[in-house]
Amino acid sequence: MSQSVILTDSHNRTQVEMPVIDGAIPAKSLQKLRVTQDGAGLVSYDPGYQNTAPAISSITMIDGMAGKLLYRGYPIEVLAVESNYLEVAFLLNNGELPSTAAAARWREEIQAHATVDPFIVDLIRSFPRDAHPMGILISALGAMGTLYPEAKEVLDSDVRRRQVYRLLGQLPVVAAHIYCHGQGIEAEEPKADDGYIGNFLRMVRNFGLETAEEVPAIRAAMNCLFILHADHEQNCSTTAMRSIGSSHADPYSSMAGAVAALYGPLHGGANEAVLRMLEEIESVDQVEGFLQRVINREALLMGFGHRVYKNMDPRATLIKTLAYSVFEVTGANPKIDLALALEQTALGMEYFQARRLYPNVDFYSGIIYQALGIPADYYTVLFGIARAAGWLAHWQEQLEDPAQKIARPKQIYRGPDERAFVPLEQR
Ligand code: ACO
Repeated sequence: MSQSVILTDSHNRTQVEMPVIDGAIPAKSLQKLRVTQDGAGLVSYDPGYQNTAPAISSITMIDGMAGKLLYRGYPIEVLAVESNYLEVAFLLNNGELPSTAAAARWREEIQAHATVDPFIVDLIRSFPRDAHPMGILISALGAMGTLYPEAKEVLDSDVRRRQVYRLLGQLPVVAAHIYCHGQGIEAEEPKADDGYIGNFLRMVRNFGLETAEEVPAIRAAMNCLFILHADHEQNCSTTAMRSIGSSHADPYSSMAGAVAALYGPLHGGANEAVLRMLEEIESVDQVEGFLQRVINREALLMGFGHRVYKNMDPRATLIKTLAYSVFEVTGANPKIDLALALEQTALGMEYFQARRLYPNVDFYSGIIYQALGIPADYYTVLFGIARAAGWLAHWQEQLEDPAQKIARPKQIYRGPDERAFVPLEQR
């Protein structure tokens, strides 16, 4: 049965009827209500897109109240255990799980396009060793865009597919060089049969872990973490990717923008910020005092809260469990006790209950990364390598959607009316 809503202008009693499709009204139909004296149409005001759907998407579904997350219909809990990152990347980008033959082709194509131009390695090495890895990654992606002029042909699906192979293939290699540069070590050569995650870990020398027990454990943990971070529908960085991509910029430039958005501490940068926060809190007996500062709005509880989840983020639940399996091999990270105390105390406080604030994906991931010996400023790079699969899926979906337009929102102007310019000497 079709549904519509009717909006009445209380000033002149004119009405506009708007169809409701999939729980949404087409915002453009608001324009039919002429609400100002000069006859301008009604606009919706929505800072931070809190209630605006810029796209119809078939990639990822989140039920924020139930704490549920599906990639193309498959529950994240199942994928995290049963699948591997490259298969999930295929699923996100192609809509279905691959057949054995398709999975092999996907893997081969990504591997065949994984060679990074020496110019990019030189660029990475030109940065100071203590430069933030996310800043270097943004620059490297921008520079990669200059190497592949064909990438500008964004409406050509064959060209697009090649850039997907290149970005998925080269991103971990670029990230490995960034890590090694920061550590002052040479990246290990990749090996053809070591797999996607295996090769990345080989290049970064398994972040210094080396025993027969540690290496498989770090691979398994990284595979799981990459799957959990692979997509999250219209989040801030994906919105950046889609916005930049909507101007038909090449995907390297669009992804540089997405990485920049991810860098922020309110988004992916929160995994690093959580570790810094735990270092600042120091011990369990400081937890209550810190949370009181949060309640007084002197600090944010990093790794808590989410625009969509008003329940436990299912990724946080899985990562918390994963932490213990990593600790069996690496030894426990004492920060886990502090994080648990912080979570339990916060969840018992009225401030967090009333606002439905729960741990998000970033609350426990840094604790795992730290146990694996990874430096804190590198955590968000790992998030970025994993999220590339989702960014690319959204970039392609948008370019294939005839309803999409260049991202160009409205504003409500409250500045001065037209006025006369006064030359400097007369002011
Ligand atoms: N600590 C303290 N208070 C918080 C927190 C937090 N982490 N998160 C939200 N709140 C409060 C806000 O102050 C606000 O209170 P008020 O209504 O009394 O003013 C209320 O909860 C609603 O929060 P908003 O900021 O309006 O929620 P929004 O959806 O805009 O922001 C965000 C979501 C950015 C994730 C926010 O919860 C936050 O800053 N969290 C900490 C940073 C973080 O962990 N980011 C990672 C998110 S997951 C990801 O992006 C990968």
